[in-house]
Amino acid sequence: MGDAHHLNAAGAALPSARTLAAVTEQLQLEARIGGYEAAHAVRPRLDGLYALAGNVLGAAADEIALTESATVAWQRAVDALRLGRGDRVLVSRSGYVSCALHLLTLERERGVVVELLPCGEDGALDLDALAASLEAGPAALLVVTHVPTSSGLIEPVAAAGELARLHGVPYLVDATQSAGQLPLDAAAIGADLLVATGRKFLRGPRGTGVLVVRRGLLERLAPTAPDVRGAEWTGERDWTLVDAARRFETWEGSHALRLGLGVALAELDGLGVASVSEHLGAASDRLRGELSALPGVRIADPAGAAGSAIVTFTVDGMPARDVAAQLAVRAVHVVSVPASHGRWDLEPRALPAVVRASIHVYSDDGDLNALRDGVAALARLSVAPRAELAGAASGNGASANGSAAGAGAGAAGA
Ligand SMILES: Cc1ncc(COP(=O)(O)O)c(C=O)c1O
Repeated sequence: MGDAHHLNAAGAALPSARTLAAVTEQLQLEARIGGYEAAHAVRPRLDGLYALAGNVLGAAADEIALTESATVAWQRAVDALRLGRGDRVLVSRSGYVSCALHLLTLERERGVVVELLPCGEDGALDLDALAASLEAGPAALLVVTHVPTSSGLIEPVAAAGELARLHGVPYLVDATQSAGQLPLDAAAIGADLLVATGRKFLRGPRGTGVLVVRRGLLERLAPTAPDVRGAEWTGERDWTLVDAARRFETWEGSHALRLGLGVALAELDGLGVASVSEHLGAASDRLRGELSALPGVRIADPAGAAGSAIVTFTVDGMPARDVAAQLAVRAVHVVSVPASHGRWDLEPRALPAVVRASIHVYSDDGDLNALRDGVAALARLSVAPRAELAGAASGNGASANGSAAGAGAGAAGA
């Protein structure tokens, strides 16, 4: 589809034409009548976003806050917990770099205790170890990443949520890489807090994110920096907070991007996340099978718990970054994910980086075959002398984006 084989939905998926139109039409309206006036004109659609997001994520409309990214959602939620000295935070190894660095900053500066939970033999969070950690003493927070940035692993978020509920521990789920590709129901999995981003499997525009704050926790959580959007300044030194997750929003934001997100959410809801998930699961399984059959190619997804629309692999003798760059020359767009983006996951597995391919409903057989054939060619070349490799790459350089640099090739993927 499009100019190249886009296999980077886990970076930023391709939005639909209707999503794109919603964004550009709002920008045009703003340019014609003014930003405030344009917002007024589409107020019902903006207000309707909360119910749409709630539908897809398993939350009520008033449990939704719109943010600019998953990281912003995460920061507002975690800061609102006001974790302090001795507070134990139990966290799965699948955590994303920015989330990990936030927790480690709290550890370094405030004496919060970050406890990494081990993985079981299947590569997913070890639920027995989690139960033991919860029984060992009170914890202030449990954090599980549904699907990591660094593999196709699916964490057992519902079982972890059940344990958190048993022990009365607030539970934060990072659904950034799962929302839109896997069935997700914040209420059913017992997530008190959940973060997601718009641009990945939800197929919304960049610069959009969602925070879910479940009712039970909302009353206990105040933003560290209330904004006029979520608070009313009632007296010289007094204010009240909006009685909804919206207390975590800021007044300024891109209405155009949010309207685009609304269209993407409605389209996803129309397709049904369950059928999208079934389709993507089958296609990614096929891809895993075909890549693993290639000599010199190793699937890097945990064998027991992989199943999402993300497929990671390595090619013997060729750094992941070079694999991504060489594939881009062939108009196949994937990314390399370095250990520094998912150190808690990749470092114990002695993987300096992995190549990540990720698919969505627009990915067709041509895309998957192009990836497989490209990887097969590289795996053959990786044992050949370097000069041959360079020659082969330039010989194929007349593809969609013309050059590796033009395609943003080899770029590390978030
Ligand atoms: C698992 C995970 N969590 C959080 C994030 C951060 O999302 P955002 O870039 O929207 O802040 C990413 C980004 O790739 C991610 O993979």
